[in-house]
Amino acid sequence: MFIEKNNLSEVFSGIAPYYDLLNHILSFNRDKLWRMEFIATAGIKENARILDLCTGTADIAIECAKRKNACQVFGVDFSEEMLKQARDKINRLGLEKQIYLIKADVFKLPFHSDFFDLVSISFGLRNLIDYSKGMEKMANMLKKGGKVIILEFSPPLDNAAGRVYDFYLKKMVPLVALICGGSTAAYKYLSSSISAFLYPKQILNCMELAGLKNLSMKKMCLGVVNAYYGEK
Ligand SMILES: C[S@@+](CC[C@H](N)C(=O)[O-])C[C@H]1O[C@@H](n2cnc3c(N)ncnc32)[C@H](O)[C@@H]1O
Repeated sequence: MFIEKNNLSEVFSGIAPYYDLLNHILSFNRDKLWRMEFIATAGIKENARILDLCTGTADIAIECAKRKNACQVFGVDFSEEMLKQARDKINRLGLEKQIYLIKADVFKLPFHSDFFDLVSISFGLRNLIDYSKGMEKMANMLKKGGKVIILEFSPPLDNAAGRVYDFYLKKMVPLVALICGGSTAAYKYLSSSISAFLYPKQILNCMELAGLKNLSMKKMCLGVVNAYYGEK
């Protein structure tokens, strides 16, 4: 089955019940540390109003809410099943007064411009139909002086380490998904979306074109995953 980006909400709803588990298995449990480091470096202010786009099962929203108990986080996703998993997790942690979940498309957000202190997107940008428009949308949601933070995989480089990483993405990821009872097609899509994604310089360029400044980048896991930070 070939997956196109225009029916992704169904694809993500299909994998939602085991999405967290497979993230932990496929990343050798590193995903938790990546998220913690990503948010620790973001410098969230007291009483910040945060928008977490493509929130999925809300790990980033939860990490923000745990760090600053006065912040308000709005987690947006277009997959009902992902939001259900997120809701259950948020309720278990007693964070329902701090995190609000909204079902919406990134390109049709129910907020006015210049509203948030921080806009985050983790492992979501590469799923958007138009990366530049997504970035412009993020910048548009921010108050002046607010921050955009992005966590994403990078495509494999053309060297020995890159070939190992490419093999892992193309062969191991769908196989592990299959062994764990997940959808091989969905995980093939997730792997191919990494291979087809932008390199760090291109992401920074895209951020600049969206009007963001003071750009910085933090490599994680030898650059397999990178965190990007920018200000409006
Ligand atoms: C790979 S998951 C990432 C989830 C989470 N942020 C994380 O760090 O694990 C991508 C999420 O983006 C959502 N998504 C993709 N495109 C979207 C769009 N245009 N609007 C809203 N949500 C979208 C999917 O439903 C899915 O939950």
